Amino acid sequence: MGIDRLQIQNLRNVQAATLQPAGGLNLIYGDNGSGKTSVLEAIWFLSVGRSFRTHLAPRAIRHESPDMVLFARTQAGEKLGLRRGREGESEVRINGERPERLADLAACLPLQLISPESFALLLEGPQARREFIDWGAFHSDPQFIGIWSRYRRLLKQRNQLLRQQAPNAQFAIWDKQLSEYGEALTAIRKRWVSSLNATLTGIISQFLPDLPIRVNFSQGWDAKTPLSEVIHGQLERDKQLGYTVSGPHKADLRLRVGNLPVQDGLSRGQLKLLVCALKIAQGRILEEKEAGRGCVYLVDDLASELDESHRALLLDQLKCTGEQVFVTAIEPSQLVMVQWNKRFHVEQGRVTEQN
Ligand SMILES: Nc1ncnc2c1ncn2[C@@H]1O[C@H](COP(=O)(O)OP(=O)(O)OP(=O)(O)O)[C@@H](O)[C@H]1O
Ligand SMILES: [Mg+2]
Repeated sequence: MGIDRLQIQNLRNVQAATLQPAGGLNLIYGDNGSGKTSVLEAIWFLSVGRSFRTHLAPRAIRHESPDMVLFARTQAGEKLGLRRGREGESEVRINGERPERLADLAACLPLQLISPESFALLLEGPQARREFIDWGAFHSDPQFIGIWSRYRRLLKQRNQLLRQQAPNAQFAIWDKQLSEYGEALTAIRKRWVSSLNATLTGIISQFLPDLPIRVNFSQGWDAKTPLSEVIHGQLERDKQLGYTVSGPHKADLRLRVGNLPVQDGLSRGQLKLLVCALKIAQGRILEEKEAGRGCVYLVDDLASELDESHRALLLDQLKCTGEQVFVTAIEPSQLVMVQWNKRFHVEQGRVTEQN
């Protein structure tokens, strides 16, 4: 899995760049503000359709350009194209055709991003962790996206009825469907999390040895009770509040070190290593489940927060995945412990391959 060609036009300070990345480890280096993160952002756009730095895509368009145009060819030969305009316009193409849904892009180019934004996984609310679980659920089970979309629609409709104080009899049909889709969604998530836990334990024992880290999946309602019973039993309370209190939309991944939540019990560098362990574990399981599938890793500013031995350990783990990896750094001398397959220097938005 990976890309063998990337073209960027008018993304941030990159007016035009073409890269032919290697299958293994790619280093992107340059001074502050040169455009390194923007190269990773381009790849992310081509998988997710949006930025990881801003929810306002037009902000990523180069000043004074009407739009940005991105293109990648995957190693499997698929051609992914994306254009975003200043007025919010968005055009996506896979092999020249408009895909049915945006998620088709992600299916062609699964990514794991490790960047300062990824700390949200440990430091912020449950949404980032649900998205993390759902990344795995989406890539491991083709039925997931359909079930997930249906559940979301049903939940929205039920919440509307709750706000309208609809008579109880009207809920029966919605609640039945909501429970069925909710249980199906949760079964896929559970399968994924149990594989994740098995793989994660091995990686954590290398990255954070001797720390009692535990990862528990919380499904969003009392695990001993069927969802239909919970939803039925809470109708009156949900009506008072105007929304559905329990269900898979409240799922979370609880991460603890000993008795403490990890954000209180780990140092900044340890948190970064835990984020890396989680992301690498996701990618590994995908590869194990479906040989040759795997994912591309984007690691922004790998060196920050980590001492030399942990940088080496992380690079070694990334190399061992056998996947395509993009790492950014200010100086190559920060990461001398590994042989790069290709190195790209970035200077004022210009990207040049180095020998
Ligand atoms: N919409 C835009 N148009 C033009 N330039 C932009 C735009 N948005 C950001 N920039 C500039 O693009 C440059 C590249 O930013 P980027 O974050 O990619 O740099 P970087 O090499 O990752 O830097 P650092 O080492 O500090 O992380 C910055 O100089 C920034 O000021
Ligand atoms: Mg950067």
